[in-house]
Amino acid sequence: MSKVAVVYHSGYGHTAAVAKAVARGAAGVEGVEAQLISVTDIDKHWDDLNAADALIFGAPTYMGGVSAQFKAFMDASAKVWFVQGWKDKIAAGFTHSGSQNGDKFNTVTQLFTFAMQHGMIWTGLGLMPGNNNSKGSVNDLNRLGGFSGALTQSNNDQGAEAIPASDLKTAEALGGRVAQVVMRMAHQRETVAA
Ligand SMILES: Cc1cc2nc3c(=O)[nH]c(=O)nc-3n(C[C@H](O)[C@H](O)[C@H](O)COP(=O)(O)O)c2cc1C
Repeated sequence: MSKVAVVYHSGYGHTAAVAKAVARGAAGVEGVEAQLISVTDIDKHWDDLNAADALIFGAPTYMGGVSAQFKAFMDASAKVWFVQGWKDKIAAGFTHSGSQNGDKFNTVTQLFTFAMQHGMIWTGLGLMPGNNNSKGSVNDLNRLGGFSGALTQSNNDQGAEAIPASDLKTAEALGGRVAQVVMRMAHQRETVAA
């Protein structure tokens, strides 16, 4: 089995719900198992991260960037960075915020830069933007129109149950895409080895 680890932080449960959707999408691809890892438990899981074929990073947008807890995980990964232990693993990212925009792109850029420092291979969302024409609606996949990762949003005064189904489907699509890329690479490795 190929392995996808979804590494996330969530202060109030919203990003956790999105992370679950990402993992569901990844696990939906045959031959792939997905593991959800909260950065609050990270010290138990460094070996899981090192063993994974892909790492999908997720953080809420706090003050226009990743949460402090996620940044602490990024900084702690410097030990892996020194030996480039995650080089050539597949990477992707997602973020959740309260505002429609809320500067989420900065958070995804932070996740992308982090993955690049680790020598990883970034996978974008791969979906056309939704809700950007007269026939569109908030029910469209990728309703917030991101490309670099999955962008999701819900109101600040509501819980995770208020996350639109379209956003959870967008998150599932990111997980599925990463899992497909992982399977394609595994197939290529087998072909080269044969
Ligand atoms: C400290 C803090 C800073 C925040 N900064 C932003 C922000 O920059 N942009 C935004 O749209 N929402 C911001 N929010 C709202 C959160 O992104 C939003 O509540 C999100 O659902 C939290 O996700 P979580 O439940 O996974 O922690 C902020 C919330 C907190 C607590």
